[in-house]
Amino acid sequence: MSDFSDRVARLRTERRLTQRELAESLELSRQTVSNWEKGKIEPNIGVLAKIASYFGVSTDFLLGHETYTTQYEGKYRQEGFYWGRKINRLAHEVLRLMTPERPLRLLDVGCGEGQAAVFFARNGYHVTAFDIAASGLAKGRGLAKAAGVHVDFFQADFLHHELINDYDVIYSTDVLEYVPPEKRESVMRGFREHTRTGGINVLDTFVEKEFIDTAPDWEHDKEFYWQTGELFSHYRGNWKLELCEETIFDCDSGGMPHRHCMDMMIARKMV
Ligand SMILES: C[S@@+](CC[C@H](N)C(=O)[O-])C[C@H]1O[C@@H](n2cnc3c(N)ncnc32)[C@H](O)[C@@H]1O
Repeated sequence: MSDFSDRVARLRTERRLTQRELAESLELSRQTVSNWEKGKIEPNIGVLAKIASYFGVSTDFLLGHETYTTQYEGKYRQEGFYWGRKINRLAHEVLRLMTPERPLRLLDVGCGEGQAAVFFARNGYHVTAFDIAASGLAKGRGLAKAAGVHVDFFQADFLHHELINDYDVIYSTDVLEYVPPEKRESVMRGFREHTRTGGINVLDTFVEKEFIDTAPDWEHDKEFYWQTGELFSHYRGNWKLELCEETIFDCDSGGMPHRHCMDMMIARKMV
């Protein structure tokens, strides 16, 4: 399969569209979509632009040219789990606040090596999870297989990817620092709009403190500190803050002990 056929098939299935539905939206035949996905044909430039616009991704992404270059791509290729197997406290909070007594849909944004996604699937959630690092997704798929659960893992860049489905839980930990300030409102709006009523957004991010040095593995061209309280300010009106905390903790990622300040939040959509 070519990069294009792989990506178009993934985008379509993530949005739970049939080949016919996608074809109709693009005013093409179902056979054309089927042939793309089999790698038999590729679209011309005009159609490629139309597909990119329809899915809210770049044409480079569709063609597989967009390089996935967070530092984690390499780190996740190494043996073992870069982030270990410990489950974040916020993941346990999800279980407490949104116990899956009925089928609940959960999205893990920037899922890394998939530990949390698999944890949720083992606890009965219907889990979709994506990350920009293909190597992390491969680990996550292995973990899910070993646990005998299904997780809908796919590769995407949240700076381009527009959500289509709605979720009961949108969960993203240690990721939002990768969203530059000018993109924050649109990314957060996407989370808010794609949360079902009664559902929750479970998020954290690093905040800037003058008295804390920047972590040694900070990616200066890609990571951006948030301001204290900034995260919470995206959840007003019909959102109730179930948890809203700022904490300072020790960390040794990157091989050198350092400290972080983090804002953590769980917000529930009331209407
Ligand atoms: C610090 S790791 C956290 C991983 C995971 N959430 C966890 O808590 O173990 C940050 C993750 O964000 C992903 N990431 C960074 N920028 C991204 C983007 N633009 N789109 C999707 N994922 C991204 C990285 O590949 C990495 O896996």
